[in-house]
Amino acid sequence: MLSHIIYALLASLAIISNVSAAPSHSRSKTKWTNNSPKAVYLITNDQQNAVAALPIAADGTLSAGTITLTGGAGSNAIDGATEQPATPDALIGQSALTIAGQHIFAVNPGSNTLSMFAIDASNSTKLTLLGQPVDLPGDFPNTVAASVKHKTVCVGTTGATNGVSCSSFSRSGLSAMDGLRSFNLNQTTPPVGPTNTVSQLFFSEDESRLFATVKGDPTVNNTGFFSVFPVDTSSWGKPATVATTDVRSSPDGTAVLFGSANIPGASLVFVTDASFGGAVLDVDPATNVASLVAKQAIDGQAATCWATISSVTNSAFVTDVGVNRVVEMSLTNASIIAETDLSANGDPGLIDLKAAGNFIYALSPGNGTTPAAITVLDVSGGQGSAKSIQHLTLTSMGVDKNAQGMAVV
Ligand SMILES: *[C@@H]1O[C@H](CO)[C@@H](O)[C@H](O)[C@H]1NC(C)=O
Ligand SMILES: *[C@@H]1O[C@H](CO)[C@@H](O)[C@H](O)[C@H]1NC(C)=O
Ligand SMILES: *[C@@H]1O[C@H](CO)[C@@H](O)[C@H](O)[C@H]1NC(C)=O
Ligand SMILES: *[C@@H]1O[C@H](CO)[C@@H](O)[C@H](O)[C@H]1NC(C)=O
Ligand SMILES: *[C@@H]1O[C@H](CO)[C@@H](O)[C@H](O)[C@H]1NC(C)=O
Repeated sequence: MLSHIIYALLASLAIISNVSAAPSHSRSKTKWTNNSPKAVYLITNDQQNAVAALPIAADGTLSAGTITLTGGAGSNAIDGATEQPATPDALIGQSALTIAGQHIFAVNPGSNTLSMFAIDASNSTKLTLLGQPVDLPGDFPNTVAASVKHKTVCVGTTGATNGVSCSSFSRSGLSAMDGLRSFNLNQTTPPVGPTNTVSQLFFSEDESRLFATVKGDPTVNNTGFFSVFPVDTSSWGKPATVATTDVRSSPDGTAVLFGSANIPGASLVFVTDASFGGAVLDVDPATNVASLVAKQAIDGQAATCWATISSVTNSAFVTDVGVNRVVEMSLTNASIIAETDLSANGDPGLIDLKAAGNFIYALSPGNGTTPAAITVLDVSGGQGSAKSIQHLTLTSMGVDKNAQGMAVV
């Protein structure tokens, strides 16, 4: 896995502008949630793709759970540095699966389809595939976003035919996808990455806008961008539609935008940038233009790519595929609050992660030598308190280095 070398190169190439820090304010608040998380989910992304579901005990720890086939196939991007199938981080993105209400949506990168599952109301690891996977109008789907409010699901594809397409869903399953909104990336199937690819699709907190992060390739003067598609709800009584054209902007000082999370209660988004670390963006509600609020380089990083926000700590947590640690960052100015070194557990680094209740669940697919594993962190003590309480290997469930994604109910 040499993609971190690419990112290191990018860091030296990217034009990094200095940005004054946002107004400081001290906040150290610990919230306790009543809704304790019930299960985590990821995709195996193997030839016979499947969703792995693991139950969460009251103390936040995981145990081996179920494997449910998606009816589609997984795939691997090509690592541009080695020209070999990329592992770990087979899909070079965040949100390979997502949850909306009692449903899970999962991409099938090798068969260009999307699968939908129902989560059993009394057993969160019992999944039922609804209908057949639906065909996508693009290649190599690697990220999916779903809106409960609009009963809409959108998929990002990042192969030769790339862009965004959407569909509506109901309890009985998915409708046909609509036409592709192209990103016009010059790519192949599978894509050669990690640069010049789609990173993540996600809806804004109020679900009025669909966001996409797209990585540039600074080595060829191809700037990454943040894409915004408004959701049109104006036709009363008709299903909401996602705009066919987007507003694209390249926030100053960013180059390789990757995983993101909405900052609650604001038009702000916390993003990672694989070339340096983390940043806070403001996505203007009127113009849909994203601009930089603050950015923070992370010393010693290889590729900071995944982000989640904990409502208990009111901070962001980011991971790096090449460094085995979790870095906690401020939601106001992206400054580093704490770093939790996990090197003792032997993983090469971490990819997708999700905060839920007092815990954070972070996936390490491993590299074939090291097994796939999930590290569970307890953040109940508030900011700066994150500590590992479990490192569960997934070998017994058949999950390997191709695994991707993290979702929690
Ligand atoms: C960032 O914000 C924190 C409070 O959230 C403050 O303590 C710190 O000084 C700020 N950092 C910078 C570089 O302004
Ligand atoms: C939940 O469902 C799975 C799949 O059917 C089953 O293996 C597991 O035992 C169930 N768990 C409980 C607590 O019933
Ligand atoms: C697309 O990429 C290929 C391979 O790098 C290159 O040869 C080709 O010129 C590019 N096409 C365009 C339109 O940029
Ligand atoms: C990128 O663009 C800048 C400004 O136009 C130019 O100076 C530089 O040579 C270009 N770099 C590459 C690799 O094309
Ligand atoms: C896998 O990761 C471990 C831990 O970082 C490392 O010791 C090992 O050399 C890696 N193996 C490969 C094939 O990259």
